[in-house]
Amino acid sequence: MEIKVTKTTSPKEKPKKGEKLGFGKIFTDHMFIMNYTEGKGWHDARIVPYQDISLAPSAMVFHYGQEMFEGMKAYRGVDGNIYLFRPDMNAKRANNSSRRLCIPEIPEEDFVEAVKAVVDIDRDWVPSEEGTSLYIRPFVIATDAFLGVAPSKTYLFMIILSPSGAYYESGLEPVAIWIEDEYVRAVRGGMGFTKTGGNYVASLAAQVKAHDSGYSQVLWLDGVERKYIEEVGAMNICFKINGKIVTPALNGSILPGITRDSIIKVCKDWGYEVEERKISVDELVAAAKDGSLEEVFGTGTAAVVSPVNKLRYEDDVMNIGDGKIGPLTQKLYDELTGIQWAKREDTRGWRVLVDKA
Ligand code: PLP
Ligand code: COI
Repeated sequence: MEIKVTKTTSPKEKPKKGEKLGFGKIFTDHMFIMNYTEGKGWHDARIVPYQDISLAPSAMVFHYGQEMFEGMKAYRGVDGNIYLFRPDMNAKRANNSSRRLCIPEIPEEDFVEAVKAVVDIDRDWVPSEEGTSLYIRPFVIATDAFLGVAPSKTYLFMIILSPSGAYYESGLEPVAIWIEDEYVRAVRGGMGFTKTGGNYVASLAAQVKAHDSGYSQVLWLDGVERKYIEEVGAMNICFKINGKIVTPALNGSILPGITRDSIIKVCKDWGYEVEERKISVDELVAAAKDGSLEEVFGTGTAAVVSPVNKLRYEDDVMNIGDGKIGPLTQKLYDELTGIQWAKREDTRGWRVLVDKA
């Protein structure tokens, strides 16, 4: 793929060392953009200064939400190099989402090449403080000026970059989670396994409700029986019950998280028994009550590994462990971030160097 590069003539001021970055608030100097036109395919790959884009008010993405996004990070290793973490998995998942959403696929190697190219141009924006990274947001939007309900014939693929700190303001501090019993996020046969805006807007009302009640995240139950644990707003969920690792199976209505997959592989390497299966909220409440629920944590690119110390379901409020991060959760956080920041050996080939052009 040929990528035309136009560099900015007025670079922005970068965040100062030690400045609190928050999540997804600051954007770098450049972005990647590529067009799709039916009959022509993907074309005109380019890197340009970060800027507003112009679309017709009738552009289909505004009306029917035909869009797909990904979330990944670039890390500044302790060796000074810039690394991605399993970017091929994001490329695969992007296409998996796109197929469900009738969006044209992007060759995996082009997706990864585009990510590397734009990260390379803005490499000085990758922060170096502990726990920070450059959040990468690739996305595709439907751009036809048309109000009929049909797949668009034109699209834009873009990648924007945002130097970020911890996703939750609390950092690695444990979070309290609200198990939602009124709204659902996704149903079998729907698009729960995709990363698309519709899944996130579906989650907002419950998130507002949870926040108002003092909980920071929502844990979803399945949309059919409202009985089985699915995932959290922006993370997959994992439990340690009686020494075993238990996480909901990929059933089509939850996002196949790359962090989830990595954690499962690491736990198996460490000799843990890992069960990917249905887990009912009743089983969880019972395990919390009899003390066999040892640790709970969420996994996600933005959130990394995020300890949970409190779960609320209907009238039950369950406190997990002693309220602090559990030993396995901490160990997994250290292993994953150790690989990502090149502090530890990468025996699984997950760390991918972003070469200097
Ligand atoms: N589930 C949802 C709904 C998410 O938004 C995310 C974040 O991307 C995840 C799970 C975790 O996925 P990953 O580990 O690939 O970031
Ligand atoms: C991610 O972890 O990459 C996410 O996309 C989470 C979120 C901000 C939607």
